[in-house]
Amino acid sequence: MVNKLNDHLENQLRALKLKGIITCFQELSERAVKSSLSYEEYLSLLLEEEIKRKNEGTVKTKINKARFPFLKTLEEFDFNFQPALNQKEIAKLGSLEFIDKKENLLFLGPPGVGKSHLAVALGIKACMAKYRVVFIPAQKLLEELMLSLKEGSLTERLLGYSRLNLLIIDELGYMPVSKEEANLLFQLISLRYEKGSIILTSNYNFDEWGVIFSDHVVAAAIIDRLVHHSRIFYINGASYRLKDRLKKQG
Ligand SMILES: Nc1ncnc2c1ncn2[C@@H]1O[C@H](COP(=O)(O)OP(=O)(O)O)[C@@H](O)[C@H]1O
Ligand SMILES: [Mg+2]
Repeated sequence: MVNKLNDHLENQLRALKLKGIITCFQELSERAVKSSLSYEEYLSLLLEEEIKRKNEGTVKTKINKARFPFLKTLEEFDFNFQPALNQKEIAKLGSLEFIDKKENLLFLGPPGVGKSHLAVALGIKACMAKYRVVFIPAQKLLEELMLSLKEGSLTERLLGYSRLNLLIIDELGYMPVSKEEANLLFQLISLRYEKGSIILTSNYNFDEWGVIFSDHVVAAAIIDRLVHHSRIFYINGASYRLKDRLKKQG
């Protein structure tokens, strides 16, 4: 009898797509009997589980949509290895106030020092807070923008990027940026200026951007908008990728 009722309940819950409740209602109803919970208390516990499950689903979708190249957290970052970084300052970024204030974060420094790791970790935190996030390598972004220009869909593409709460542009400077690409990047950055945050990582300091951009005027205009309302972190430590090799040699 109970089994039949449970089967029926399961079908009803499935019809309503209440997956969180399906997994817990039997256990919770036993607990409710044992602890003499009121109907309201029992219902509240069930709904709590459903909300938890829905939230987890939303965060998972946000993380998938963000297209991170890997998943790493702030907790996994070894600050002892990178003493140039102030742990408290970085941890504070995790409160995501910079997104509310539409500020940019710039992580600059040589390869392997954890620029992308920090960008991903903050991006994941933003997804967990239900912000719309996209992570994209700079080269891919430029290719996409050039293609959209050719196909006549640049406006839609730029609009798509302008709707994000956080756009992470990784590894600017890996390849030189042509005049046309620089113009498109300028349009994108202007569109997001004071409207949404950007996290940008680059192997080059601003005074070296002449190497990246053939057009220095556009480069200066891009830097101007990026840097206004921004926090800049110069990470000049050793490469984490070489850590174990250095240890072996030492
Ligand atoms: N301080 C650190 N603590 C833990 N892992 C780190 C640290 N710095 C870098 N890593 C790891 O080393 C690898 C290279 O880091 P990455 O963020 O890609 O460097 P960058 O973007 O500066 O070239 C990644 O796997 C990253 O997780
Ligand atoms: Mg990187």
